[in-house]
Amino acid sequence: MKRLYGLIAILVVFLGFAFVSESHKEAATTKEVPTVGILQLLSHPALDAIHKGIIHGLAEEGYHVGKNVKIDFQNAENDQSNLKTMSARFVNENADAMIGIATPAAQALANASSTTPVVLGAITDPEGAHLVKNNNHPGNNVTGVSDQAPLAAQLKLIQKIMPNMKTLGIIYTSSDDSATAQYHQFAALCKKEHVNLKAYSIANTNDLNQVSQEMVSQVDAIYVPTDNTVASAMQTLVATATAKKVPVFPAVDTMVKAGGLATLSINQYKLGVTTGKMTAAILKGKKPADTPIHFVRKGEMTINLKTAHKLGITLPDSVVKEAKQHGEVYR
Ligand code: TRP
Repeated sequence: MKRLYGLIAILVVFLGFAFVSESHKEAATTKEVPTVGILQLLSHPALDAIHKGIIHGLAEEGYHVGKNVKIDFQNAENDQSNLKTMSARFVNENADAMIGIATPAAQALANASSTTPVVLGAITDPEGAHLVKNNNHPGNNVTGVSDQAPLAAQLKLIQKIMPNMKTLGIIYTSSDDSATAQYHQFAALCKKEHVNLKAYSIANTNDLNQVSQEMVSQVDAIYVPTDNTVASAMQTLVATATAKKVPVFPAVDTMVKAGGLATLSINQYKLGVTTGKMTAAILKGKKPADTPIHFVRKGEMTINLKTAHKLGITLPDSVVKEAKQHGEVYR
């Protein structure tokens, strides 16, 4: 009998150990799944495409959502205080990496932590936005992908499609760092190329209707930089411009899809894929400090034939051919 008690006691102790070590193991495995916080400034087709691309890029490098990586996705709905609370949330939950989609989101993340890696998801001017000291050698916890558009090639395309253009308009939001950075570069370029550029700035979407009404009566064509506000309200601009038969040449493909005429665009989805892959490398131990900012130099010919038809514009054959063979055609 004594022996039986002894045996039972041993068994109980053993089971107890087994249980404890099993639950330890579980704790260890849940901790091994890294958390990535993704902060998106607001919804518009370009940023949504970048977000989708990021998930794809992570998967291509072996990080599958719900399996071996946890994604905490937050959309700030273009609200500064949301950006702040959401960034703090990522830091509190000990995120292993944080991705900022659009400049204000990246800035909020960089302000929230100087140690957690921050990956820039399509930030036009990382140095100008004070996110890194040097694009080639960031030196801090921040690196990522720039969506700086190929402005010179875009201007050439506009001139090719509009050989008789006298005045080109540009519209941008004065508080958008990405858009203003591009406005300044584009203005310098136009000066050099002797293109008469007329600038129109807005404070927010409420201004867009009135300012675009004024603009379409004064210009022959419109250029739109990577401006988060205009990108979220393209229909307003396109409706006004098309009614006056003024073509809109935007910086990116998603804005051509939304009714712009043509552009040489960095593919927004692919930008996201690159961002996702870079994040994967960082999860595997790569240091942001010595990871250069990735620039995509080349744009893909993107045209909207439906818009061309509405405007009564015949696109040059070479442009259509290039878009069909190596780019994107919307109809
Ligand atoms: N570059 C923008 C920023 O830094 C974000 C962005 C990416 C964007 N793609 C875009 C804005 C397309 C407008 C349209 O904030």
